[in-house]
Amino acid sequence: MTKPIFVLNGPNLNMLGRRKPEIYGTTTLADIEATVREHAGALGRGIEFMQSNHEGVLIDEIQRARDEASAIIINPAAFTHTSIAIHDALEAAELPVIEVHLSNVHRREEFRHRSYVSLQAETVIAGAGAYGYIMALDYLAQR
Ligand code: DQA
Repeated sequence: MTKPIFVLNGPNLNMLGRRKPEIYGTTTLADIEATVREHAGALGRGIEFMQSNHEGVLIDEIQRARDEASAIIINPAAFTHTSIAIHDALEAAELPVIEVHLSNVHRREEFRHRSYVSLQAETVIAGAGAYGYIMALDYLAQR
């Protein structure tokens, strides 16, 4: 059986729906999980979906993905711009990595323009809102 796609979400994404809706929309992370799970099912793929505010917990999941996942879709949130450790974990995972951002980080503050994760990402999707996760799944399905 094909291994699941891991969908990993970083800090503060548990606040979606309440956090800066003018930037991130009103969709909650639970809504995103339900939509992603349904779409993955339609594509005949399984997912494991998680969120953590803790860098080390995300790294543990990336390390687990190496053996247990077929690909990683990750919105590392603020860790995108700071975490060499997540960069290194993704490098070691040796899996297709799709980086997703709800907002167009390039149209925002300068500190959001640098991504350590992009160095390890096959594809980067930013500014499509929650639909970016669906785009990532579709990309992986036709890859
Ligand atoms: C984000 C963009 C990041 O810069 C920010 O720190 C987030 C969310 C996005 O999905 O647009 O928390 O990753």
